[in-house]
Amino acid sequence: MHYFDYKATKLYGEGVSIERIAKEVGTPVFIYSHKTLVRHYNAFDSAFKDASHIICYSVKANSNLSVLKTFSNLGSGFDIVSGGELKRVIKAGGDPTKVVFSGVGKSEEEIAFAIKKRILLFNVESPQELRLLNKVAVRLKTRARVALRVNPDVDPKTHPYISTGLKQNKFGIETEEAVGEYLYAQKRLKSLDMIGIDCHIGSQITTLKPFVDTLKKIKALTTRLRTLGVDISYVNMGGGLGITYDNEKAPHPSKYGEAVLKATRGLDVTLIFEPGRNLVGNAGILVTKVLYTKKGADKNFIITDAAMNDLPRPSLYDSYHAIKPVTKTRRREITADVVGPICESGDFLARDRELKEVRPGELLSVMSAGAYCFTMSSNYNTRTRAAEVMVKGRNLFVIREREKHEELFKKESMPEKLFKK
Ligand code: LLP
Repeated sequence: MHYFDYKATKLYGEGVSIERIAKEVGTPVFIYSHKTLVRHYNAFDSAFKDASHIICYSVKANSNLSVLKTFSNLGSGFDIVSGGELKRVIKAGGDPTKVVFSGVGKSEEEIAFAIKKRILLFNVESPQELRLLNKVAVRLKTRARVALRVNPDVDPKTHPYISTGLKQNKFGIETEEAVGEYLYAQKRLKSLDMIGIDCHIGSQITTLKPFVDTLKKIKALTTRLRTLGVDISYVNMGGGLGITYDNEKAPHPSKYGEAVLKATRGLDVTLIFEPGRNLVGNAGILVTKVLYTKKGADKNFIITDAAMNDLPRPSLYDSYHAIKPVTKTRRREITADVVGPICESGDFLARDRELKEVRPGELLSVMSAGAYCFTMSSNYNTRTRAAEVMVKGRNLFVIREREKHEELFKKESMPEKLFKK
């Protein structure tokens, strides 16, 4: 569900014509709909209205300050994976005491910074990290709250690069080892409060079963730990609920909520969720201009001014993004590869896609580009990153200016000595 629809033949983001945005801001441009973000947050939140819960929006999906502020204004907490993301959250007015810190490779500096900001929980992913966290807390003469990230060994049936809860993945701690770590920490790591269990099994998950299977294991672990004297009061389910890119039937958050609440009934914990894609994925589009069209020996190509540096998901995961014309036409359908200007054959936005013939100068909208697109974009080929715009009702706001070439090499230098003969 989103608010990018046609009025007659023209595509609009809420009440703003996409053509107008392209004219005013240029292309390529990411456009997010404020109303869609709010709707998605509320849908997720209300799925858990009857349970004690905290939503920690996963910043990595889309970390623009205005996106973060939209969620913090709604009461959201945040799931971060770096000190940089924590700084963004604070800058956007987010509440650090509703922040959880995930990731297998937190540095000592990042840990110290997050402790000082009094974040809610560290999602600790290894025994070494646990010991370092305790050491830093001792040094800072304070305490840190911990959830161990357990690896439940459940197959989320998604792309292998975004599966995280299998034995062979680098994430989390295997259950038996985790039990030992809880007990060890409780006895020996005196500056830690072992109060949570964390898991995250993967991303773009479109069935409920993997979540339910995981919760069964987490529920059993919670009971077992309590029997052993570890007072678990938070269970973090991570993120992962998928969206519709093509014709996937992703469960509505309310169905996900029903399944989670059923599986955790009687557990008496505060549930934490780290949704990313589900809140922002369909709330954004990438608008690009057609530069050229050409007929290769085997294929038609549509060459656009957006490339894999702007939208890396198709080349990284072979993922599908619908592509729609910004102005509908009655032209014939063709099958074409939609490609960017980057010098790699892997630079494509879509392959063998059926769409209406387009001409140079016309605009295309790449749909469902709100999650993991801008945040994974790069400057490859010395391309400036796209501008970002938020629409709200009839208004548009530039929330990130297009970069300038000079900014891309501002930090580089040619020291005189290096080039002395
Ligand atoms: N929590 C943790 C610990 C995570 O690692 C992730 C995503 C999330 C929450 C949020 O998951 P979500 O609700 O968005 O599925 N770049 C890939 C996705 C990578 C996901 C990484 N972790 C893509 O474009 O599909």
